[in-house]
Amino acid sequence: MLLDEATLRARILELGAEITRDYKGKKLLVVGVLKGSTIFMADLVRSLGPELDVQLDFVAVSSYAGKASTGTVRTLLDLRESPEGKDLLLVEDIVDTGLTLTSLTETLRAHRPASLEVCTLLDKPECRKTPFQPKYTGFKIPNEFVVGFGLDYDERYRQLPCVGVLRT
Ligand code: IMP
Ligand code: MG
Repeated sequence: MLLDEATLRARILELGAEITRDYKGKKLLVVGVLKGSTIFMADLVRSLGPELDVQLDFVAVSSYAGKASTGTVRTLLDLRESPEGKDLLLVEDIVDTGLTLTSLTETLRAHRPASLEVCTLLDKPECRKTPFQPKYTGFKIPNEFVVGFGLDYDERYRQLPCVGVLRT
């Protein structure tokens, strides 16, 4: 196991406190990238201060089939809330090559949010193929395929309460 539940939750509380400080007095639109971010997002938004003006939305993109990135990012589900004039915080499970978020942030900027930042639970900086850097990162991890806490291998293992390296 790479990250146990207690470690994950403690770090998410810290991220929530940091985001609460940074977005004080702003209109925050938290946008989860389906499906991997859902478990993280549920914990993250509950760690935001109750005084914050927060809305939630989701987008879905597809870039992976099994373990290999196809390099092509397709939008499967778009925003339902208008991000215009709001501070958009995109929540992702993991940044690997950075191709998904490079493409997705470009697409979302066209909707003219007041600002756009990314919060990822995990980051594999060694795998980057673009200069993309998330503003908020839970954990930097080595270049290994991980599952659990929302992350899948062919849609399985998302329900695991921890993050572990998949051995095949
Ligand atoms: P990127 O475009 O290469 O940065 O890939 C990002 C997406 O690939 C993430 O949103 C995940 O869905 C998936 N991904 C990358 N690495 C892993 C992993 O180790 N486990 C599970 N999914 C991964
Ligand atoms: Mg995925």
